[in-house]
Amino acid sequence: MRKKIVAGNWKMNTTIAEGKLLLDSVISQMPALASNHQVIFCVPFTQLFVANEIVNQSSKHNIFLGAQNCHDKAAGAFTGEISIPMLTEVGVHSVIIGHSERRQYFGESNTFLKAKVDALIAANKQILFCCGEPLQVREANTQNEYVTAQLKESLFHLSPETFMQHIVIAYEPIWAIGTGVTASTEQAQEMHASIRHLLAETYSAEMANEITILYGGSCNGSNAKELFSCADVDGGLIGGAALKAELFLPIIQALA
Ligand code: PGA
Repeated sequence: MRKKIVAGNWKMNTTIAEGKLLLDSVISQMPALASNHQVIFCVPFTQLFVANEIVNQSSKHNIFLGAQNCHDKAAGAFTGEISIPMLTEVGVHSVIIGHSERRQYFGESNTFLKAKVDALIAANKQILFCCGEPLQVREANTQNEYVTAQLKESLFHLSPETFMQHIVIAYEPIWAIGTGVTASTEQAQEMHASIRHLLAETYSAEMANEITILYGGSCNGSNAKELFSCADVDGGLIGGAALKAELFLPIIQALA
C-alpha cells in the first residue's frame, strides 16, 4: 500500500533545548499512526543525537528521524560537510535531497544530486527527493517540463524496485515555499498526477501507483486536509508550520 507521510523540515531553526521541547510536545500529543503512515522529523545536524534518543524512547510507531542534507562520499577532505555513515550513527532513517534552498543557494545540480541518491540507496536510506519550479517557470506554464528534467536527471537511472523501496518525491513549487502562498488543490493535484503519469510512462502503472508524492510549500493546519484529500497527494513536507507543536499536530491529524 502507498505510504502517507508528514515530514517536518526544521531548516536552520531551533536550539537543542527548543528542539527537545518541540519533539516531546509533538510526539506526546500525536495520535497513533496507521501502519502505512509515517511522521519524520528532519532536524538540524546538532540535534540528531538527542532527537534519536527521544524517538527511540517513544512507544509510538512509525516516527522517524531525518536529516536535511548529506555528502555523497563516506569520508574525506570536505570541510563543513556531513557523511551518510555519520548520519547513520545517530539514527537517521530519511534524508531530504535536492531541496530548492540547496539547489538555489548552494548550487546543487541534478548530477550532484544523483550521486547523493546513489550513496543513500547504498546505505539503505529513505530519500525525500524535492522537485519544483520557480515562479517564472510557472508563469511561462513550463512547470511540467522543468520538474520532469529534475526527476529524470537525478532518479530515472534507478530500477523500479530500488525506486519503490527508497524514493519519496516531494513536489515543492518554489513560489509557495515560506511565502504563505499555497498551491491550490487543483495546481497540486495536477502536478502530482503529471509526476505519477511520468513514472507510469517511464516504469509502469503499478510502480507509479506505489510511489508516495508529498506536497510542500506553505502547507498548514488549515489547508492540509484539503490538499491531502487529492487523489495523488500523499502527505506533506512542512517547513514553517513544523516549528510549533500546535501548528504541526493538525497537519499530522490531516493524514488520517
Ligand atoms: P514552508 O517550507 O512549509 O515553510 O513553505 C516547506 C519546505 O521548504 O520544505
